[in-house]
Amino acid sequence: VLGLATGSTPIGTDKYLKSMYMDGLISFSRVTSFNLDEYIGLNENSDQSYIYFMKQELFNAVDIKEDHIHIPSGVSNDIQQECRQYETDIRKAGGIDLQLLGIGRNGHIGFNEPDLKFEASTHLVSLDEDTIKANARFFSSEAEVPKEAISMGIKTIMHAKKIVLLASGKEKASTIYQMVYGDIHPELPASVLQIHPDVTVIIDEAAASELLAQTPSDENYIHIE
Ligand code: PGA
Repeated sequence: VLGLATGSTPIGTDKYLKSMYMDGLISFSRVTSFNLDEYIGLNENSDQSYIYFMKQELFNAVDIKEDHIHIPSGVSNDIQQECRQYETDIRKAGGIDLQLLGIGRNGHIGFNEPDLKFEASTHLVSLDEDTIKANARFFSSEAEVPKEAISMGIKTIMHAKKIVLLASGKEKASTIYQMVYGDIHPELPASVLQIHPDVTVIIDEAAASELLAQTPSDENYIHIE
């Protein structure tokens, strides 16, 4: 049971997964997937929706079964029910084995923006000003970025058995530093990962630059080669 992510960060991962599938090294025939989030108001025909993105980037090229794919519907006429059903579906699938995460500049994971309660499960969220600005690059204008989304909550993410967080680029460097060494606080949602028992963080040198520059010498939370 894979928890999948969208955004620029996992595009490389999706490419590797596709080529490993093409080379016959892996199969998705027994995979059930749950994506982190979806914009409110966009359906699968909109090329900015995350369901569209996932089909383009991964699903159309591999042997995952259509009915094993789960992404919250951003056009459901009962959003609360959609959220509850998503949690039920995750539970029925036996929970998420591996959750892939990107991270926002503001420290969000999924669309869990700063200052949301850690105990939230799948829910309706209002997007942060900074997230709207960051994601405007995928739309023809900032005004077109939806203001709301359905997102797995922090609680949902924290229940995943294993988490892999990916980040690249200098603009994530201070967020990554805060995530690893900052206080565990909803102001920086990803800081909650400090208390998850099995998290792997994979970052490039630019995203690691503040960790490399400022790693407290008496800490051994992480090991950087
Ligand atoms: P990005 O987004 O991969 O496009 O930087 C990550 C996120 O907002 O979670």
